[in-house]
Amino acid sequence: MLEFRNVTASIGIIEILRNLNFRVDAAETLALIGRNGAGKTTLLRTIMGFTKVSGEVLFEGKPLTPLVPAKRPGLGIGYSPEDRRLFSAFTVEENILLPADAARLGAVETQRRLDKVYDVLPELKEMADRPAGNVSGGQGKMVALARALMIGTKLVMLDEPFQGLAPALALRYADALRALRDADRSITLIITESNPALLRGFASRTLVIERGEVSDGSLSPERKQP
Ligand SMILES: Nc1ncnc2c1ncn2[C@@H]1O[C@H](COP(=O)(O)OP(=O)(O)OP(=O)(O)O)[C@@H](O)[C@H]1O
Ligand SMILES: [Mg+2]
Repeated sequence: MLEFRNVTASIGIIEILRNLNFRVDAAETLALIGRNGAGKTTLLRTIMGFTKVSGEVLFEGKPLTPLVPAKRPGLGIGYSPEDRRLFSAFTVEENILLPADAARLGAVETQRRLDKVYDVLPELKEMADRPAGNVSGGQGKMVALARALMIGTKLVMLDEPFQGLAPALALRYADALRALRDADRSITLIITESNPALLRGFASRTLVIERGEVSDGSLSPERKQP
């Protein structure tokens, strides 16, 4: 569903990602593992259209490169950046609804998606009316996940979601992702992490990124029993 063909991506005049060739199939949970500064965030931002690209990035067989960043979420791509970027004056629910508003989804479709998101993250329904500025850092990560799920009907990209989460919340977060996969068998997830142990047994495949280059990681056992 996603394919990189000889992709080099730059920020300004600095080449950050080099010669990337890989594909991600629908329904995969891909772990993208790399140290600090390896290029994980830049790779996700390249899919969102925030870098200068040579080569081709294909989404469902069509080139993404001609599409401006603002058009990409509308393809069903949700993105939760490493810094959560919630609007603290808005309520939790208003934050979750932002991408749906931006994509001009109708009221019925918006409600349908919101109900699905609350099925996976019921705790957010209880705090829907709280200002996002009043939730804890960990809860804020859940809100950022919910926001990505509102628009990411096909592909959801999570940048170091477990970073800084207390262990109990990290388990809860992983449970929510499992519930999401159970509810939607075709959804594709890309999750970045610097600590491979956190995604072991959860991802169906691992890619390793090192100094802007991607290579195949070892396969985790779950791949054999999806
Ligand atoms: N705006 C920018 N201008 C110039 N160089 C940048 C910019 N953003 C990132 N880089 C460089 O690109 C490389 C990859 O950075 P990136 O943020 O993608 O790594 P990362 O794997 O996400 O790291 P982290 O684990 O710290 O989040 C680094 O060498 C970084 O210094
Ligand atoms: Mg990063």
